[in-house]
Amino acid sequence: MKEFLKKIARSQRWMIRFYFEKKYFKKDPYLLETSDFEKRKLDQVNGIIQELPSENTQKVIEVGCGEGILANMAAEKFRDYLGVDISRTALKRAKERNQSHANLKFEANDFFQMNLEDGHYDLMIFSEVFFYFSLEELAPVPEKIEKALKADGVLLLVHCRANGGDDDSGTMVKAFGAKTIHDMFIDKDYYVLEQDLWDEEYRITVLRPKVQS
Ligand SMILES: C[S@@+](CC[C@H](N)C(=O)[O-])C[C@H]1O[C@@H](n2cnc3c(N)ncnc32)[C@H](O)[C@@H]1O
Repeated sequence: MKEFLKKIARSQRWMIRFYFEKKYFKKDPYLLETSDFEKRKLDQVNGIIQELPSENTQKVIEVGCGEGILANMAAEKFRDYLGVDISRTALKRAKERNQSHANLKFEANDFFQMNLEDGHYDLMIFSEVFFYFSLEELAPVPEKIEKALKADGVLLLVHCRANGGDDDSGTMVKAFGAKTIHDMFIDKDYYVLEQDLWDEEYRITVLRPKVQS
């Protein structure tokens, strides 16, 4: 029975991968290179990364890195960056875009199948990826990520606000958005909130693990 359930779960993950492969049939499906607000958001996120102390940009992972656009913008700042995405098509473009940066590596994987090493990362980035998780799937994620961060590591969350969803702002229509997602992390007593920036369209949140006394 357990094996049967695992098989069903695996086949659903395959469908999710297929969904994103289809999305990436066309280049830049999320309009990162053409939409004004996406460009504004990328510039702001890159600005935050540039301001981080250099010890926080050594061992970096970005899950849902897509075509590697943010990685490319911040490439000079990252020492050892791993971009992970469920879509091979997106990663092929990410690799092409970043071929001159030996410090940037890209790997196909599904967050749900990743074993994150404890206390390993100086910086973890999740931009516009948690919309594709259900709230049940998202529930254990704050703890999984906190465990993978170094004690002085940084978590960077970036998501659009949802209209018709949690705080009825922005132009994106979704059942839940940045308010619900980021609050799920902020509410945990094992994180300290460093920055919480609200744009009319999106929210950027910077967290650190709470130092245990
Ligand atoms: C809306 S795009 C965001 C791309 C980029 N990070 C940004 O901020 O615009 C969501 C990305 O997450 C990836 N993704 C979705 N679910 C994933 C999962 N379970 N594991 C890894 N990547 C995933 C998709 O393939 C896609 O590239």
